[in-house]
Amino acid sequence: MRIAVIGSNMVDLTSYITRMPVLGETLEAPDFSMGCGGKGANQAVAAAQYGADVLMLTKVGDDFFADNTIANFKKHGIDTRYVQKVPGVSSGVAPIFVDQSGQNSILIIKGANNDLRPADIDAAEPDLKSCKMIILQLEIPLETVYYAIDFGKKHDIPVLLNPAPATTELDLAKVCQCDFFMPNETELAILTGMPVSNEKEIEAAAKSLSARGLKHVIVTMGSHGSLLVDEDGTRRVEAYHVEAVDTSGAGDAFIGCFACCYIEQRDIIAAMRAASAFAALSVTKRGTQKSYPEKEAVLKLLNA
Ligand code: RIB
Repeated sequence: MRIAVIGSNMVDLTSYITRMPVLGETLEAPDFSMGCGGKGANQAVAAAQYGADVLMLTKVGDDFFADNTIANFKKHGIDTRYVQKVPGVSSGVAPIFVDQSGQNSILIIKGANNDLRPADIDAAEPDLKSCKMIILQLEIPLETVYYAIDFGKKHDIPVLLNPAPATTELDLAKVCQCDFFMPNETELAILTGMPVSNEKEIEAAAKSLSARGLKHVIVTMGSHGSLLVDEDGTRRVEAYHVEAVDTSGAGDAFIGCFACCYIEQRDIIAAMRAASAFAALSVTKRGTQKSYPEKEAVLKLLNA
């Protein structure tokens, strides 16, 4: 089953820190690691690692990061025919700071990701039309996101939008045709302007999005699990409790695995459970894509 990811790629520059430096301060951090990341690429790799056949539409720069990013997609069996280099532009990079409890703060410099345009979707139309799902995030221009949603609707392909990083510039009227809308709590708060400090508030905020026409709203809540709000009501899937060493990329892990399971089984709750196990295992290791588990390990956890 083919999944298309129309989205970003970044090079993750992760510093493992004891605390953030204050302005003007130089502070030593104990460790550093570099790896392939970007929300789109992470979701593509997670889906591929769980068994999906993935088509990636993204743009890389013309620097030394580009070839490594393309090689990494290929290593995961991802179709890179629509991964293009942009002359004179840097690849996307993401300085990430992970504290001693495994929580992360991320900066993104989008670079070539800003050049993924509606015309690139048109160019890929013959291949995109055969996909069973389109996955989108917000690290590419919004006009491309809106165009991809319209493309999905025109060709009757379910669209999953991960509204991350959240921006109040997102026109909810233009995205309400999405079949799946998957924010985390922070993104939900930014997009709705509503409080999300407990599960009741999260549910109310998610329902406000449902009321605007979003079919299935799934809020990822880290160690508190995930919440599905749709016309059948509200359901919660528990998280697996693990010792977190690095939570970066866990939301992307959830989404990629969810998409793969959903198009295979058409069972939203079963897909959320598998995604929850996949994401839980990812936080037990350092890095984003580097931390994603093999399918066998996920099945073992699911059946434990
Ligand atoms: O969601 C995690 C990702 O956000 C990182 O891989 C980083 O590149 C940013 O895009």
